[in-house]
Amino acid sequence: MAAPDPVLQTRLAGLALRTPLVAAAGTCGVLDELAEVSDVGWLGAITTKSLTPESREGNAPWRVVETRAGMLNAIGLANPGVDAFVQEHAPRVGSLDAAVIGSVAGHAVADFVRVATALEAAGLQAIELNVSCPNTADGRQFGSDATLLESLVREVRAAVRTSTLVVKLPPDGDTLRLAAAAVAAGAGALTLCNTYPAMQIEPETRRPSLSRGSGGLSGPGVHPIVVRLVHLVHREVAGPARVPIIGLGGVMDWRDAAELVLAGATAVGLGTALMVDPSAPRAIARGLAAWCRRQGVREIGELVGAVRA
Ligand SMILES: Cc1cc2nc3c(=O)[nH]c(=O)nc-3n(C[C@H](O)[C@H](O)[C@H](O)COP(=O)(O)O)c2cc1C
Repeated sequence: MAAPDPVLQTRLAGLALRTPLVAAAGTCGVLDELAEVSDVGWLGAITTKSLTPESREGNAPWRVVETRAGMLNAIGLANPGVDAFVQEHAPRVGSLDAAVIGSVAGHAVADFVRVATALEAAGLQAIELNVSCPNTADGRQFGSDATLLESLVREVRAAVRTSTLVVKLPPDGDTLRLAAAAVAAGAGALTLCNTYPAMQIEPETRRPSLSRGSGGLSGPGVHPIVVRLVHLVHREVAGPARVPIIGLGGVMDWRDAAELVLAGATAVGLGTALMVDPSAPRAIARGLAAWCRRQGVREIGELVGAVRA
């Protein structure tokens, strides 16, 4: 395999990334199943499926459906539980060609603390708090209230000693306030964003396509929304605080990734693109590297937030 161009090397709050591309939570297996069909060496990091203290089955089918603008999912945080992850998956973390970000979810602060500390003890260098899942009853409670979010992040920050703490926010709601609360409480990075709450209805049956009724929209339809949010949050909150952003939403090719970098993203997440084409990271990394060379920069970090707005 050809190695990624060194112009793509970057740092995300203490994590050294070979490329700025990050496989998004829930879109590439529990940990490294993507490696069966793709070369993960083109990725800087892989995010685990969101893990909870208990194992979860998730919602009943149908829980994934295509739309013209991307896809809707209502998986509902199906995962093996953190203890099974630590036993069966975590031992492979050190041998992967990419850094690993452990995604954490739960019903209460104590759940987040328990999963985050277990993942840190298992050797994960970064922990992402998923406070923005639209597909469970309480998946967004901490991501819709800045006060609750601030206390959650403070508790987890106090319990997790060295791992980088990333907070993943929703695309709707008061994103600037939420981002400011997360940063004030010690978040080392922000992920913008989770899926956008959305719904599809079958005209003949008059039923929602997803068993849960509604789900989360991902893919090309959310991309311009996320570009704006990354731009705003970088300008108002994250940039001044020197907190990096993982821009995530609808990146299908290198141009989409470049837009997010210019808007203010230090790293760029890929979700739906991996399901359409698991080899997408390679083409996107190559396109980004060629763009960096044309822009005359020595490292991609010089282009973060460099939109001429
Ligand atoms: C099938 C599916 C499962 C997902 N599961 C999770 C999850 O477990 N935790 C999480 O934080 N986000 C989850 N997401 C959201 C993605 O990580 C990402 O935020 C979203 O898909 C937007 O990126 P994209 O447009 O590149 O797909 C999931 C998305 C999809 C499509």
